[in-house]
Amino acid sequence: MAVDMKELTALCKRRGFIFQSSEIYGGINGFWDYGPYGVELKNAIKQFWWREIVHTRPDVVGQDASIIMHPTVWKASGHEDGFTDPMVDCRDCKSRFRADQLEEPGKCGSCGSRNMTEVRKFNLMLSTSVGANAESSTTAYLRPETAQAIFVNFKTIQKTSRKKLPFGIAQIGKAFRNEITPRNFTFRSREFEQMEMQYFIDPEDKVDHFSNWAELRKGFFTKLGFPLEKLRFKDHGQELAHYAKRAMDIEFEFPFGWQEVEGIHDRGDFDLTQHAQFAGENMEYFDEDSKRKFVPHVVETSIGADRVTLAVLCEAYSVENLGTEAEPDLRTVLRFKAHIAPVQVAVLPLMKKLSEPAEALERELNAQGFRTEFDVTGQIGKRYRRYDEIGTPYCVTFDFESLEDQAVTVRFRDSMEQVRIPISGLSEWLRKEIHQSMLPSL
Ligand code: GAP
Repeated sequence: MAVDMKELTALCKRRGFIFQSSEIYGGINGFWDYGPYGVELKNAIKQFWWREIVHTRPDVVGQDASIIMHPTVWKASGHEDGFTDPMVDCRDCKSRFRADQLEEPGKCGSCGSRNMTEVRKFNLMLSTSVGANAESSTTAYLRPETAQAIFVNFKTIQKTSRKKLPFGIAQIGKAFRNEITPRNFTFRSREFEQMEMQYFIDPEDKVDHFSNWAELRKGFFTKLGFPLEKLRFKDHGQELAHYAKRAMDIEFEFPFGWQEVEGIHDRGDFDLTQHAQFAGENMEYFDEDSKRKFVPHVVETSIGADRVTLAVLCEAYSVENLGTEAEPDLRTVLRFKAHIAPVQVAVLPLMKKLSEPAEALERELNAQGFRTEFDVTGQIGKRYRRYDEIGTPYCVTFDFESLEDQAVTVRFRDSMEQVRIPISGLSEWLRKEIHQSMLPSL
């Protein structure tokens, strides 16, 4: 069944995944909040990215830089002059559009009028002022990408970490863009998080780092649960951002069409050279083996944490009919991989009377590091459905027999099959299952 974005958005709100920011005031366009399950899902995805990019790689280190940087950074990076979208307004209904997204150029996408303004360049950076009073305050920008903080810190981090080329610096952090038309739920927001990695290389290195990273990033998506047929790897050809020499998008088939989730860019020495010039700092690297000095080149991988979370939600969402056509019995399921599920294990006593030992088991699993919940309210079948809807892969039912045989029933979310497992081996069994879920789904 095709995913209906309206239904998915409604589920996200109903179950506390994602909803509009400042909702009680009517919301604010392009800004979103994550509720209890949403923040767990997004955190799990971010942690998995960090593990894959930083923790498992001896050649990549992390950083966490401030959002507001010296204003000259954005002159050097080219964003102050070049980070623009073409904007056009309808003089009749006052709607505003990105000119390149209009179905018919020169025709209002809202009221159909042809009374449109000229196309103007609109800078996407959001600004603020820093300083206590008007005279001494400076205009600063909220960063439109996290990457610049990595370029600016390149020398400091290279020295302190004593890394030799090739090596990477990674960061997860907020970015801001005053998008002209935020839309498709969280897909295009004005405040969002990026997970970026800049890989610094010797320009004479014969290894094709761009292709290597593209291949590795493909693996990341399959480990998150995306089948390869829902992914597309699109080379930009000549259509490049001001900083890029080569670029490739990883696209996912969203319900609203194929769209970019991640970009892989060969930025050459553009950024380091610009910062060297504007800051008057030497950004060269000295290679001890070849005794050469040069400005490193950079291959970047850049993925939106919110955008990939939305893609995960779209891929996981399914509604199945367990009944008949005449008497439908609809089950809504979020089929998250177990390693990113917001609640991995729900412990459910069959009856209220069994709460004490069941809750003790839930606490024990929680102490073992699983994301758990204990739920006693309502019929067991209803509880299963509630956990299907938030994507919990394992429901553990504690029944009267459990008191006798010290075993519990584990119900699988996807197949709805049930197995009996001894409590003494439950934690180990779950650990293996969750570990297994990190393998690529092909
Ligand atoms: N440092 C390179 C860079 O920022 P980008 O293609 O402009 O490249 C990278 O952005 C990723 O950031 C995108 O693939 C997307 O996942 C995410 N992203 C960009 N703009 C976004 C927005 N307005 N809302 C949500 N995510 C966005």
